Amino acid sequence: MSKNNNMQLIAGNSNRALAEAISAYLSVPLTKASIRRFSDMEVFAEILENVRGMDTFVIQSTSYPANDNLMELLITIDALRRGSARRITAVIPYFGYARQDRKTGGRTPISAKLVANLITAAGADRVLTLELHAGQIQGFFDIPVDNLNIAPVFLPELTKRFKDEQLVLVSPDVGGAVRARGMAKRINADIAIIDKRREKAGVSEVMNVIGDVDGKVCIMVDDIVDSGGTLCNAASALKAKGAKEVHSYVVHGVLSGGAVARISSSEIERMVISDSIAATEAVRVSETIEQLSVAPLIGEAIKRISEERSISALFK
Ligand code: R5P
Repeated sequence: MSKNNNMQLIAGNSNRALAEAISAYLSVPLTKASIRRFSDMEVFAEILENVRGMDTFVIQSTSYPANDNLMELLITIDALRRGSARRITAVIPYFGYARQDRKTGGRTPISAKLVANLITAAGADRVLTLELHAGQIQGFFDIPVDNLNIAPVFLPELTKRFKDEQLVLVSPDVGGAVRARGMAKRINADIAIIDKRREKAGVSEVMNVIGDVDGKVCIMVDDIVDSGGTLCNAASALKAKGAKEVHSYVVHGVLSGGAVARISSSEIERMVISDSIAATEAVRVSETIEQLSVAPLIGEAIKRISEERSISALFK
């Protein structure tokens, strides 16, 4: 049981199973709330227990349907603020819109910044999230942001499963090299990076594998798998360079469209994702995709925030 009796956990509808698992980890029941739609699909949130003076945590991933889930988060925060909660932490295991973190052309938005402004304006005092697409997104907020690292969830399973193998951790693109290097360092593994290049417009991309993967078990690490294109193509490039097996560990399984089928018929032997996003039926029945729960990690972080203890100590 948490020492902090003022802690209250409020679950949005995006990932009820994860919220329940966090509640079980903390031995703190979910606060009764009704977050529902009016007939015209407007979102309405009603917190059915007193929250005055409480340390409240709203658990809501802004995953598909991103706009509905974001509105639920904002409106629930507003309800808590107007209900005089002492502190409101937005717990966002998957932070949607994170890939829109810069202008990609003239007259385009930086939607991740807009979303950060909305969360702050709604009344959040702090944010707890997991493996932001880009660490700099923390700076889009002027309130404290704790951005958890997935290593304590993925690495114990990885090292146990492959204890007799010579592993290479692979970033499927140059942008993910820091993440792959960080994980490789912790388990003393080599790294490789896939450098995608399109020499000329209209000519298909060439995948250059930087690093030695011949005869080795490759573990691709990434923050997001969406269409699966990045990882499936990277897996083919690794196999072409002689990789013995290709596995993948990805934090956020967005898995839109036909991603699950694409992954199942690819060179990827096995893909591990976290439960930051609720599993669809296709994920649940997939023989290639497995989920590892981040509930203990997020639960522990919530506990530490509530008790004003260090979170970085979790990653030492
Ligand atoms: C890109 O920068 C991200 O880290 C992922 O690699 C990307 O979002 C994956 O998308 P997809 O699965 O559609 O290739």
